[in-house]
Amino acid sequence: AQTVSRDEGGELTVGGTPVTRLAEEFGTPAYILDETDFRARAQAWRTAFGDDADVFYAGKAFLSRAVVRWLHEEGLNLDVCSGGELATALSAGMPADRIAFHGNNKSVTEIRRAIEAGVGRIVLDSFQEIVRVAHIAQSLGRRQRVQIRVTVGVEAHTHEFIATAHEDQKFGIPLAGGQAAEAVRRALQLDGLELIGIHSHIGSQIFDMSGFEVAAHRVVGLLKEIRDEHGVELPEIDLGGGLGIAYTSDDDPREPHEIAKALTEIVTRECEGARLATPRISVEPGRAIVGPTAFTVYEVGTIKPLDGLRTYVSVDGGMSDNIRTALYDAEYSVSLVSRSSDAEPMLCRVVGKHCESGDIVVRDAFLPGDLAPGDLIAVPATGAYCRSMASNYNHVLRPPVVAVADGEARVIVRRETEDDLLRLDVG
Ligand code: LLP
Repeated sequence: AQTVSRDEGGELTVGGTPVTRLAEEFGTPAYILDETDFRARAQAWRTAFGDDADVFYAGKAFLSRAVVRWLHEEGLNLDVCSGGELATALSAGMPADRIAFHGNNKSVTEIRRAIEAGVGRIVLDSFQEIVRVAHIAQSLGRRQRVQIRVTVGVEAHTHEFIATAHEDQKFGIPLAGGQAAEAVRRALQLDGLELIGIHSHIGSQIFDMSGFEVAAHRVVGLLKEIRDEHGVELPEIDLGGGLGIAYTSDDDPREPHEIAKALTEIVTRECEGARLATPRISVEPGRAIVGPTAFTVYEVGTIKPLDGLRTYVSVDGGMSDNIRTALYDAEYSVSLVSRSSDAEPMLCRVVGKHCESGDIVVRDAFLPGDLAPGDLIAVPATGAYCRSMASNYNHVLRPPVVAVADGEARVIVRRETEDDLLRLDVG
């Protein structure tokens, strides 16, 4: 569905608009997001699961009011994990009952606001939170629909910082030692809560479905235990997000319909084995929807060849608009997009403008040997966890997000200005 291609001159065009025109109009660096592609991916996830499941887009990957409206129009739900994300969702008109509220340390104020707004579910992450949410709901005269997030003890094959189902980390309540069963016991006793299901999120940027298989097996095991002990069959199971996307040509992601089929089959099979009615499934893809839909366009600045090593190509952004390379050793590709070139490729490292040697955008990349200051280069697959994790390090201004659809480009998140920076500085 992506509408990015090259014209005859070798220049990249998005939805028919040349990238140099976008750069002239909106400046660089900029995230260029293909709205048509975003909607198609959202829709593909929704239709893959059909009416028997719910797709919650994980807002942490990238959230703005335009995105909320697209999701609403495409029939998706939304997962938020902070008061700020909740406020964005509500201000753009997402119906509260289609919002799930996550987080390992939600504040009392956030919880109260979520319950007052009428969010569809709060995902409880600890024993303390079970009691806290129950009390707040009760004090507001509400019965809040909740799920309990459990850690199933799976080692997802991904970077340590984004794996979340092994036991030694901060999220969820371990299944081990009967802790999750105890959490369910407590939640069922509290009047302020309506326990609707169990939640598991095993990590992020995952290709291998076996982790989901183990997770589903263990969660269904818990559902069975709950049925046997309390005579209650919880109606829902959430398998989280985490489906990987292609950052480089080495990655081979699965299509939403394959994932939906695999997950549905696993849950159905496990439930049949346990003689349980199959619960309603929900999933929370973030990266898989928005990640591939955007690229970052940078202008090349200083080029520094280091003899026998590589050429350092500096761009006008860096770790402030993409922290993923520095933080997770993430791999990206890069290409020259403002023109074509037949020059011999040279080994480059694309680096930013920050005062730090770890400020690397693309660790190893080949770019044409005639690369020159003023050329535009683009890093694909920056839709997820780039703008949403952007910072003002070195007081660098965060880039805009420009959405392209039907040949039209419009800013959906504007570029930060020095006035924006100074507005917060009230000393
Ligand atoms: N659901 C829950 C409960 C999550 O914690 C996450 C991601 C998702 C869904 C969405 O996962 P996705 O489908 O986007 O992989 N900053 C890291 C990723 C952190 C993910 C945190 N949780 C990165 O840039 O790779």
